[in-house]
Amino acid sequence: MPLSVLVLNGPNLNLLGTRQPEVYGTTTLADIERDCRAKGQALGLDVEFRHSNSEGELVDLIHDARGRHAGLILNAGAYTHTSIALMDAISSVELPTVEVHLSNIHRREPFRHHSYIAKVALGQICGFGAFGYLMALEALAHHLRSPA
Ligand code: DQA
Repeated sequence: MPLSVLVLNGPNLNLLGTRQPEVYGTTTLADIERDCRAKGQALGLDVEFRHSNSEGELVDLIHDARGRHAGLILNAGAYTHTSIALMDAISSVELPTVEVHLSNIHRREPFRHHSYIAKVALGQICGFGAFGYLMALEALAHHLRSPA
């Protein structure tokens, strides 16, 4: 049975394609979902792809992932920089997590440099646009098959 992973997207990412294209590019969230599904298939991973604008719903989706998914890829959007609740949710379910950002958050405003998610993630991929999600799938597949 293929391993299953959850790709979870936080606030405002539903607007990708039209939202600040100079920062986030013109790829839509539907494009990213399609590409993640194709990459998942190539890697032998089942991909569930979700989005929510609300912090509590993201916490619920992380809780529900326990027992259903082997790992998590998370672009928490602005909650990256504020949400102890999301950090605690990841610690609570103990799912290996790869943090993704389209933009290079370390080259942007100082308030984007700190990530609560990074404290509980295997690693962070940022600055490579939508391709970062595919890199995250590679990294998670590698970790799940040969955990360091
Ligand atoms: C983002 C970076 C965050 O700082 C921002 O709030 C987002 C998107 C990214 O993918 O680059 O909403 O997570």
